[in-house]
Amino acid sequence: MDTYDNRMTAPTRLDTDEEYSELNLRPRKLSEYIGQRNVTDNLKVFIDAAQLRGEPLDHVLFYGPPGLGKTTLAGIIAAELGVDLRITSGPAIERAGDLAAILTNLNEKDVLFIDEIHRLNRSAEEILYSAMEDYEIAMVVGKGPSAKSYRIDLAKFTLIGATTRAGSLSAPLRDRFGIISKFEMYEPEELAEIIRRSAKLLGIGIDTESLAELALRSRGTPRVANRLLKRVREFAPVRGSGVIDREITDETLRSLGIDAMGLEGLDRDILRLIIDKFSGGPVGIDTIAAAIGEERVTIEDVYEPYLMQAGFLHRTKQGRVASRDAWLHLGLTPPETDTQLSFEVDATDEAGE
Ligand code: ADE
Repeated sequence: MDTYDNRMTAPTRLDTDEEYSELNLRPRKLSEYIGQRNVTDNLKVFIDAAQLRGEPLDHVLFYGPPGLGKTTLAGIIAAELGVDLRITSGPAIERAGDLAAILTNLNEKDVLFIDEIHRLNRSAEEILYSAMEDYEIAMVVGKGPSAKSYRIDLAKFTLIGATTRAGSLSAPLRDRFGIISKFEMYEPEELAEIIRRSAKLLGIGIDTESLAELALRSRGTPRVANRLLKRVREFAPVRGSGVIDREITDETLRSLGIDAMGLEGLDRDILRLIIDKFSGGPVGIDTIAAAIGEERVTIEDVYEPYLMQAGFLHRTKQGRVASRDAWLHLGLTPPETDTQLSFEVDATDEAGE
C-alpha cells in the first residue's frame, strides 16, 4: 500500500531531499528567492531597518503548508543579517533544559529557527516567553521550600518559528512574534522558475514545455517540484536524449502515478472515498482519517491544502465535500444537484488556520 512516508509528492521533508532540494538547490540570498512576495517584500524592509538600528530582527512567525520554503527563508534571513543560524524543531526539544542549552549558546543577533513550533511542549514553551520578551531565562528548579529560581541573561537573538497551523499556537506565544507571515502555495509560473533555476544548478537541459508540465504537477510546492525534477533527471539519460523533454517528463510522471493535476494515489483515494462511500459528502474528517488509515492532522495539514487549492475539496461546517471538478477529474459523472453549494464553507478552515 502507498503510505504517506513514501509518497513522491509528500510535501514534508524526506531523507532523499537533502542531497538536492534541501542543500544544493536552496537559495542563499533574498534576491534568489522566488515567490512569496507578500512575505519577502516586508521582510526586506524589516531586515534593513534592524541593521540600520543595529538591533536584532524582531521575532518572526512563518505559517502555512509544508514544503513552501519556510526553513529556506529562515536561512536567507540569517545570511542577510550576517549572523549564525541554529535550527531545531518543536518535537526535537524534549525538555525545557534542552531549549535552555540552545538559547544560552546563541550569540548577539543570531537566528534560532524552531520548525513545527506548535509541537513544543508546555515547559519549553514557557521558557520561550521570557527569552523572547526580555532575553532572559527564568527557571524554577526543584519543588517546595527548597525550590530555587534562576535568571540567566541571553544574547539578543531572533526567533523564527514555523508552523503548519497558526491556530494551534497558544496566544501568549503567538503574541510575542512581532512579524507574522503567511506562506501561500506557489503559482505554476513561479514553480517553473524554481525548476528552471534548479535545473541550471544541476546542469540539466530541460525544455519549456517540460518546465510548465512539472510546475503544474508539483502541488504548488517547491519541495515537490525539485523532487520531481530529480526523478525526471534520472529518466532522461536512460530513456531519452539526455535532455529533459515532454516525452520523458510525461513518461516519468506516468510511471510515478502522478496525474495531470499532480494528484497521487492517496489523494485520489480520499476523493474516491468521499464520492463512492458518501455520495460526495459531507463526511467528517475523523471518518476519512480512519478509512484512509492516516492521522487526522496529516490529512488536514498535508493532503487537504492542495486538494482545496486545486478546487477538488471543500471544508464545510458539516464535513468534507468533493467538488464537481473532483468527480470529473476521477472520470465520474457528478450528481445533477451540486451538493457543495448546499453547505456553508468553513471560513476558518479554508484559511488553513
Ligand atoms: N527552492 C525552494 N524554494 C525556493 C524558492 N522560493 N525560490 C527559489 N528556490 C527555491
